[in-house]
Amino acid sequence: MASLKKLSVFGLGKLGACMAATFAERGFDVLGVDINAEAVRKINAGEAPVDEPLLAEAVGKARKRLRATTNPAEAVATDISFFIVPSPSLPDGSFSNEFLMRALAPIAQAVRKAKKKNHIFVISSTTTPGACRKVIIPMLEKEIGGKCGKDFSFCYNPEFIAIGDVVRGLLSPDLVLIGESDQRAGDLLEELYRKYNLNQPRIARMSVTSAELTKISVNSYITAKISFTNQLRMIADRLEDTDIHQILDAIGSDSRIGKKYLRAGLSYGGPCFPRDNRLVVYTAKEVGLSAPLAEATDAVNEMAKDQLALQALACTKPGDTVAVLGMSYRPHTYITEESAGLHIAQSLKRHGCRVVVHDYASTTKNSPSLLEFEYLADPAKLKNEKRLKAVLICCPWDGYRKIKFPKGVKVFDPWGVLA
Ligand SMILES: NC(=O)c1ccc[n+]([C@@H]2O[C@H](COP(=O)([O-])OP(=O)(O)OC[C@H]3O[C@@H](n4cnc5c(N)ncnc54)[C@H](O)[C@@H]3O)[C@@H](O)[C@H]2O)c1
Repeated sequence: MASLKKLSVFGLGKLGACMAATFAERGFDVLGVDINAEAVRKINAGEAPVDEPLLAEAVGKARKRLRATTNPAEAVATDISFFIVPSPSLPDGSFSNEFLMRALAPIAQAVRKAKKKNHIFVISSTTTPGACRKVIIPMLEKEIGGKCGKDFSFCYNPEFIAIGDVVRGLLSPDLVLIGESDQRAGDLLEELYRKYNLNQPRIARMSVTSAELTKISVNSYITAKISFTNQLRMIADRLEDTDIHQILDAIGSDSRIGKKYLRAGLSYGGPCFPRDNRLVVYTAKEVGLSAPLAEATDAVNEMAKDQLALQALACTKPGDTVAVLGMSYRPHTYITEESAGLHIAQSLKRHGCRVVVHDYASTTKNSPSLLEFEYLADPAKLKNEKRLKAVLICCPWDGYRKIKFPKGVKVFDPWGVLA
């Protein structure tokens, strides 16, 4: 069984560009494929196609072994193809297969035309549990005219990374998850990761559908832990003589619980946590069950944001100014998708407040959702704001520690940034 040497990565976005560059940096020959000609041009020019820490350095180091194209058929010459294209959420909570199907079909047709055997198709995008087995593999079998596990192989291999930490997260993960159609494909992918990873992560191998369910369950568990801390914080806020940070520090010392994601803060957001947890609810419904734990996690998440907005409204009158600091969903990223800061700023504006916003990475340029607010370039200038009644720190950027807030202004700091 020959090792995998030539890799193709379909989708050169926030994750795919980092996968392609780090695979090449670690010694594999990599072909990046994207429908976005600008992303392809940038990779070929040795530039990072997206903003992500350490990506530009990885692309620079990988140059000799990294090339990109808009022509999917070129990937037939590679041993294995990774697909990391969007899989957007649908209104019912499931994830769309549309982008994956469009990305897979041309290479499947090219594999058929070349009469190639044993090509390995790897889905890294998050999918609805059951989608690979019921929708994607049957489409590949039809287009290739062969049987999965015999004429070609299929793996589901999602990555567990956080935006802002993708390169480090890819190279040194806790877990590599491989759902496999056949042992040969699983063995080859495992061998690839043993060469690629800088650490020695647990490599968990299972069926494709088990891996789909595992992927979203990791995020559902983490979000449950976050909602637990938010529920406790809201109770402690109303109970005299309590300090939520001391309480959680003590709880997390129990090794059965642990301290990770047990920090007092605000609602989770971003492109993965909220929708992955909602996908658990959808998946339960699909098999005739409900998922009350996942639903409660979501409900507490909404409640934590709404409670903070209500607390701010209680100390303002219409027309007063409120400053929302931290619009990104976590530090070190500009992404505002489903962020607590964005939700709260919108709610305060709807209730008649004048809302000024600040973030160290999100700007009106990279996050058009901020255009509806007045953008404060320098939070130190808060003291010049007229009728400023409340400041809400919604994302725990370190920079907020140093700010001197004007006297008489109520500061809400659920993350304890100023503590
Ligand atoms: N962003 C995250 O934090 C994160 C974390 C874990 C998993 N995921 C999963 O990873 C997937 C991709 O996320 P992302 O943030 O990198 O997305 P992205 O939008 O940044 O990038 C997707 C890329 O795919 C390209 N693309 C679309 N159709 C294509 C096609 N037919 N052929 C080739 N390229 C095509 C796009 O042009 C784009 O460059 C999603 O399914 C998501 O669920 C994302």
